[in-house]
Amino acid sequence: MSGELSPIDKAKFVAAKRAAQYVEDGMRVGLGTGSTAAWLVRCLGEMVREDGLKIRGVPTSTRTAMLAREVGIQVISLDEAKWLDLTIDGADEFDGDLNLIKGSGGALLQEKIVATASDQMVVIADIGKEVEHLGGFPLPIEVIPFGWQTTQALVEETLISMDVLGRSTSLRMNGDTPFVTDEGNHILDLHLNRIGNARQLALVLNQMPGVVENGLFIDICDAVVIGYGDGRVDVRDINEGTVATERLDFVESDNLFADLSE
Ligand code: 5RP
Repeated sequence: MSGELSPIDKAKFVAAKRAAQYVEDGMRVGLGTGSTAAWLVRCLGEMVREDGLKIRGVPTSTRTAMLAREVGIQVISLDEAKWLDLTIDGADEFDGDLNLIKGSGGALLQEKIVATASDQMVVIADIGKEVEHLGGFPLPIEVIPFGWQTTQALVEETLISMDVLGRSTSLRMNGDTPFVTDEGNHILDLHLNRIGNARQLALVLNQMPGVVENGLFIDICDAVVIGYGDGRVDVRDINEGTVATERLDFVESDNLFADLSE
């Protein structure tokens, strides 16, 4: 990536840069997936290379693993780490209780496993991701390829009794073929428009055979770092009940801004 960053990329970058301050020497850190998380990985890589930060990272996708190695972060598996001090990841939507929709990158299963195995989860997002009610963004669910059309029909039937505004579903495609996750599964996107009871929906979806996991992250996120295009960040901590606004010096470093692949 070269030239001036767009306001949205600046917002993602400052959120990631601020969240990198949560990371301390010796930590085992879950590394999220997506364009905002890619900024985070780059920021942490710079801290490893230039400040001697010592961390071990557990990536949530093969593409994050590749980027982490590329920027110099030691990559380990979740089984090697067993438990993590912190996970930092992006989100597609977050509400006032810091409940999330995740999975537009198709990595929701590993993301949820990693975030749940962490003492703390910090979400990084631009302000456009904040919503009053979850569901404007399609909710991804990861499904087993075997009988996926039957699973889709079952999901649609179940949605009739759920507190949602829309009920259509679509199989996520990658060109002409179904999208395949890192775990070899497919993704169904649920077009719900508004989710009235996200906790209930998450539980019901996960009870269906064929559904591996859903993209609702309920009571998992501890803090969100919200970036703005002018360099401002809000840090909201749900446990402390605090909101702090800060401004980051925005310096376009050559290393960080070169050839960002996402
Ligand atoms: C991937 C995710 C991402 O974190 C989410 O889609 C946000 O992505 P981006 O930072 O590119 O907007 O859940 O599965």
